[in-house]
Amino acid sequence: MPEVYNWQLGRKMLYPYEERHPKWQFAFVFNINRCLACQTCSMADKSTWLFSKGQEYMWWNNVETKPYGGYPQFYDVKITQLIEQVNPGGQVWNVRVGRKHHAPYGVFEGMTIFDAGAKVGQAAIGYIPTDQEWRFVNIYEDTATSMRALVEGIDKTGFSRDEPWRMTGSSLPEHETFFFYLQRICNHCTYPGCLAACPRKAIYKRPEDGIVLIDQNRCRGYKKCVEQCPFKKPMYRGTTRVSEKCIACYPRIEGKDPLTGGEPMETRCMAACVGKIRMQSLVRIGEDGLWAEDRWHPLYFAIRVEQVALPLYPQWGTEPNGFYIPPRWSPRGYARQMFGPGVDNAIEKYLVPSRELLAVLQLWRASQQIIFRYDVIPGPKVFETQIHGKRFEMYNDTVLGFNKSGKEVARIQVEEPIYVRPAERVTWL
Ligand code: SF4
Ligand code: SF4
Ligand code: F3S
Repeated sequence: MPEVYNWQLGRKMLYPYEERHPKWQFAFVFNINRCLACQTCSMADKSTWLFSKGQEYMWWNNVETKPYGGYPQFYDVKITQLIEQVNPGGQVWNVRVGRKHHAPYGVFEGMTIFDAGAKVGQAAIGYIPTDQEWRFVNIYEDTATSMRALVEGIDKTGFSRDEPWRMTGSSLPEHETFFFYLQRICNHCTYPGCLAACPRKAIYKRPEDGIVLIDQNRCRGYKKCVEQCPFKKPMYRGTTRVSEKCIACYPRIEGKDPLTGGEPMETRCMAACVGKIRMQSLVRIGEDGLWAEDRWHPLYFAIRVEQVALPLYPQWGTEPNGFYIPPRWSPRGYARQMFGPGVDNAIEKYLVPSRELLAVLQLWRASQQIIFRYDVIPGPKVFETQIHGKRFEMYNDTVLGFNKSGKEVARIQVEEPIYVRPAERVTWL
């Protein structure tokens, strides 16, 4: 099997196909700290693409409550357990390896879904969820749990105290009882499990933007994609007998929506986000297949420079292109198992943001057009304090966002304007 380089693992790994990269890559950052689980994103997606017969159970976008929730139920616990059955006790990160540009989180020394798949004669290790597991998309919504329940092994998700890699270093005892929302769409992975699995070669990654699609004419409904996508994002449709998945709203990315006059536009689920937690863009891929350095690109800045946003389950090896600002209140051990060893740095950066990061974070949901570049106009200092013993200064800078053609599409100040209702309009008198 060929070897490919996975920057999130800091090393090469097995993959059924030779390394090949698109020119641009669809990518996004979800800020978990801001999500209110209103499910507007889920409904925007549902009402756009998923309202037909046979699609009733499909949610290409879903928001699940961790640690109990999941769609399909327990998908992440099951995948993790399947890999650990093949590689017991070996799922570890070596964070002592210098955090070089191409190995920002250290080196993962365990097995990916592809490594584990090779051991059992499959492209990737996986399973097909039962109908029951697909049935309740919001099961355990808003259900909190405590670290004690998890550590004592009485947790219903199957996380057990015997796996120190997954539970070590939990802290924040004042927040023992916790939950957080996890927003999920297809990650349009660099090394998709779905694509690797399909015996019909019906799945392809578009060279122009890295969007992963199922060719509806080639698909014969073998469901290997459903089995071997660890995120469980391809879904089988009984009425057509083929599988479907998130299409990254590609007509909008192509600028086909009349609203933007030909400019790339964010997807439906991103544009609908009430909590302003979502930011999506396209990142340029260099000759070497890695993200080309692009200092003034908001996603490059958040993910590669500040490293405040992290991939979901990077250890599975698909190199997902969806990134998350991890929840600051989650026990650290739990967050690390989900987002890798970069969690502590990311939360620290988010809690005490640099002047530039604070400005750039204002761009989340600032425009329906995709932002490819930002700039910051300095403003006056308006506030200072200490956070966790660190000095924090807030400046009322103005951040600008530019679309693909370089036109300004967003201009926002860090300090949100306060509008005081005039006395004659006060309603409580
Ligand atoms: Fe394929 Fe799943 Fe990755 Fe999407 S998240 S590209 S469906 S492996
Ligand atoms: Fe649905 Fe588009 Fe969001 Fe994919 S990107 S989940 S197709 S709204
Ligand atoms: Fe291939 Fe999945 Fe269809 S495995 S044939 S794309 S159901």
